[in-house]
Amino acid sequence: MWAAEKSRANPMVPFPATISAVRELTMDVNLFQVQFGEGGGFPYRPGQFAFLSAFGVGEAPFSITSLNDEGSPMEFAIRRVGTVSTALHDMGPGSVLGVRGPFGNGFPLESFKGKNLLIIGGGIGLAPLRPIIKNALGHRDDYGEMVVIYGARTHQDLVFASEFEGWAAVPGVRLELTVDREGSGWDGRVALVPAVIKELQPTVENAVAIICGPPIMIRFVLAELKALGFENHQIVTTLESKMKCGMGKCARCNIGEKYVCQDGPVFTFDQISGFLEQI
Ligand code: FES
Repeated sequence: MWAAEKSRANPMVPFPATISAVRELTMDVNLFQVQFGEGGGFPYRPGQFAFLSAFGVGEAPFSITSLNDEGSPMEFAIRRVGTVSTALHDMGPGSVLGVRGPFGNGFPLESFKGKNLLIIGGGIGLAPLRPIIKNALGHRDDYGEMVVIYGARTHQDLVFASEFEGWAAVPGVRLELTVDREGSGWDGRVALVPAVIKELQPTVENAVAIICGPPIMIRFVLAELKALGFENHQIVTTLESKMKCGMGKCARCNIGEKYVCQDGPVFTFDQISGFLEQI
């Protein structure tokens, strides 16, 4: 049986994978590249996530931040915040962890084709947006203009900073960075992400807004987009939630009637407009 079919047949069983590289993105966020052995692994879409297990410690869900590409390593941007992420941060190249997935619906990439992309990220929320950006960079003819508005608390908290220059150099791509607080070493914009949207007035026509970030940012971003005239169907966001099973069984991750793990983590504005206070 092909690996992906095995995975779908029993998503509770993790594939062993080896950390092939670790790159520091910020003081507390590392990028982990993992490689599967013969017959391991599974295909995935932007916006999907996987459970990573540190053997003997536990497991937790993390967004996949790579673009599915045959032979390329799977990547995860992980902040050191809890027991599992700390155990993963203590691992280095050559360490073995467990990976099970993919989980979640992912972004409706096909529906973005031919559209102007407005990608809005906050903090480590850029991680699940990165494969969309990479895909659009590699297939410029499939999309219109791409505007990326990305913010973090300080410039030291901007993840994937080493990739920004390459993104911004591609024709038809505009990268707008912002930080919440001034600090030495930063002479760029200081403003909250929703304020940047208001300032830039991105085009609404034939556009789709794709959002990921802290819940408070998402709520204010949604309000700004609606004020600009974005229709509900033009807004897609991914949501965070506490997750345990990832399979719609434990009821830990509900927002309204939806389970983030199964119905999401990607939702249209239509799907969540009645539950904005729960985000
Ligand atoms: S994580 Fe268990 S129902 Fe979503």
